[in-house]
Amino acid sequence: MKKTLTILGSINADHVISVPHFAKPGETLTGHHYHIAYGGKGANQAVAAARLSDEHTQVNFIGCIGDDDLGRTMKNAFEQDGINTQFIHQIAHQTTGIAMIQVAASGENSIVISAGANGCLDENIVEQSRSQIEQADLLLMQLETPLPAVIKAAQIAKNNGVKVVLNPAPAQKLPDELLANLNMITPNETEAEILTGVKVTDLESAVKSAEIFHQKGIETVLITLGSKGVFVSHQGQQEIVAGFKVNAVDTTAAGDTFNGAFLIALLDGKPLQDAIRFAHVAAAISVTREGAQPSIPTRAETLDFLKSI
Ligand code: RIB
Ligand code: NA
Repeated sequence: MKKTLTILGSINADHVISVPHFAKPGETLTGHHYHIAYGGKGANQAVAAARLSDEHTQVNFIGCIGDDDLGRTMKNAFEQDGINTQFIHQIAHQTTGIAMIQVAASGENSIVISAGANGCLDENIVEQSRSQIEQADLLLMQLETPLPAVIKAAQIAKNNGVKVVLNPAPAQKLPDELLANLNMITPNETEAEILTGVKVTDLESAVKSAEIFHQKGIETVLITLGSKGVFVSHQGQQEIVAGFKVNAVDTTAAGDTFNGAFLIALLDGKPLQDAIRFAHVAAAISVTREGAQPSIPTRAETLDFLKSI
């Protein structure tokens, strides 16, 4: 039987400029290599999930585009990637979300977003998209769309026995009523600190942070530690699963690729550690390439890389 992953989240057109360093206040900086790449945390995770899945998994995406060509073109691109776009809503009198991204020579980025249509993803839209949540095996969300809709979607999922995973990016404080409905959370160090008050620097502090998430009712905690790998805490088992060293060209969407890939591997029936390794490989490939969605690898590329290591 087909497994279903429903993703709710943002869609952005990323305006990317390579820079020698991030622009300082008052500075006019000459960058190079300007391009538009498809992005947005929700869309990146949906594209990653779709490219990294096989025919046994269906990926649904709930999101909003504006009434513009860019939004419509992106929606078509999602369809090409095999995503079910039936619940991508076009919002009248709105522009599609955008991100202005500086990519430094180190591969690090600095991002400013304008929500546009993403800001219209409200509880009504969740209600209209209810069937895609109820029928899913897993619901994956982030925090680039308004919180009330995320809370409502998690509640619908919980009421229907659908597992809920939250990638709490960009960082913000969250109500306990939402945390209690999550089965899994995947923060980075900064997000974990904002949500638990524990500064995560090593295994010991990661364990402390995870305990707080567990107390709030979340069964599985993954804290991404950048180049150090991923800390995982699940049913009393706690460890760091190391990542892979690659030459970073552009780290945009590495976290999104990780999240999409990880959930696909879990739906494939892989144990947690194997799913993390699969996701590490997919994310590692993505940082060697430019742009958000253009850099996300296919399942075949990822499996080939896995065989080669
Ligand atoms: O996580 C990366 C994404 O964050 C980019 O694609 C950009 O759109 C911002 O939303
Ligand atoms: Na990339």
